[in-house]
Amino acid sequence: MMLAAERRADREIMKILVTGSGGQVGQDLIRGLLERGHEVHGSDVASRPSALGLGDRELPWHLLDVTDLAALRRLIARERPDIIYHLAAILSARGEENPGLTYRVNQGGVYNVLEASREHRVSQVLFASTIAVFGPGLPDPVPDDVHLQPTTMYGVTKVGGELLGEYYNKRYGLDFRAVRFPGLISATLPGGGTSDYAPLMYVESMRTGAYEAFCRADTRIPMMYMPDGIRALIELSEAPRDRLQRTTYNIAAFSPTAEEIADSVARAVPGARITFKSDPTRQAILDSWPNALDDAHARVDWGWAPEFDLERMTEDLVPKLRALLRVNAS
Ligand SMILES: NC(=O)c1ccc[n+]([C@@H]2O[C@H](COP(=O)([O-])OP(=O)(O)OC[C@H]3O[C@@H](n4cnc5c(N)ncnc54)[C@H](O)[C@@H]3O)[C@@H](O)[C@H]2O)c1
Repeated sequence: MMLAAERRADREIMKILVTGSGGQVGQDLIRGLLERGHEVHGSDVASRPSALGLGDRELPWHLLDVTDLAALRRLIARERPDIIYHLAAILSARGEENPGLTYRVNQGGVYNVLEASREHRVSQVLFASTIAVFGPGLPDPVPDDVHLQPTTMYGVTKVGGELLGEYYNKRYGLDFRAVRFPGLISATLPGGGTSDYAPLMYVESMRTGAYEAFCRADTRIPMMYMPDGIRALIELSEAPRDRLQRTTYNIAAFSPTAEEIADSVARAVPGARITFKSDPTRQAILDSWPNALDDAHARVDWGWAPEFDLERMTEDLVPKLRALLRVNAS
């Protein structure tokens, strides 16, 4: 097991570019990186969200479409980041509405980021992969190295991203590192993923007192609280390269049924009414994903361990969401 002190011991201040940084993961990642003292540049095809909660900390923001290789090259040549966290993507549910766009943004985007990083000698590229790389019929829990047969364009492009990153690592020595995120739950609005029923149970119960989930009550997929997800990305980035036996890692936290999440919400938000009405398209995607992930390689190679289970997450999240909803209402 790797000790915290073994992670990039010198803890240098890095110049970091985050793509897709206006999204659910990006907003929390930016805060995490700034808290560690790094110089962070946000970028997104959309303008900077108004409520980033950064106080007086600086955050340069670049309007960047990752499908535009020339623009990406110009930005990297000008800003010379040490590290790029590549988050920009179209998620699974939105992705099935527009597979062509999903291919261009996700597959084209990761190629462009890797290619521009190679050309401009970026030291490290972090990639947010997903449980959507898996298809049905796999062992439970699913280890890292299995036959990848995703059922969505999103999953296909994420498999492509993992493989391209490994290629750039082997062929050019680019330091590419990826985590396969479970469904992430946080105190921001989710961005069109098929696991969104979980965060929406919290948000809608608190906002309106009721939520009809688009899945069956017995749906079970791997989930993670965002602070664990952000810590995983940052700790993987800080791990010594020679400790890493691979480029892409499963990471796991907990695997509740949808009903167990609803019960946890109902205990914390008295009066919340959560019902279930399965949507066939999204249910088919959920049923194709694993129940649980085996993250043994991440635990051994870089000391990964989650801090939050379902109950701890609910305890931490509900007051944060209450505060957020109060701010939005005022
Ligand atoms: N949220 C989850 O549960 C989850 C789970 C597994 C993996 N991930 C991965 O984490 C990453 C971030 O996810 P998220 O939840 O923040 O998604 P999100 O949809 O909230 O954010 C994605 C961001 O990418 C931006 N974007 C879209 N097209 C772009 C383009 N062409 N150029 C630049 N930016 C563009 C969007 O404007 C948005 O701000 C994604 O790569 C996603 O696949 C997320």
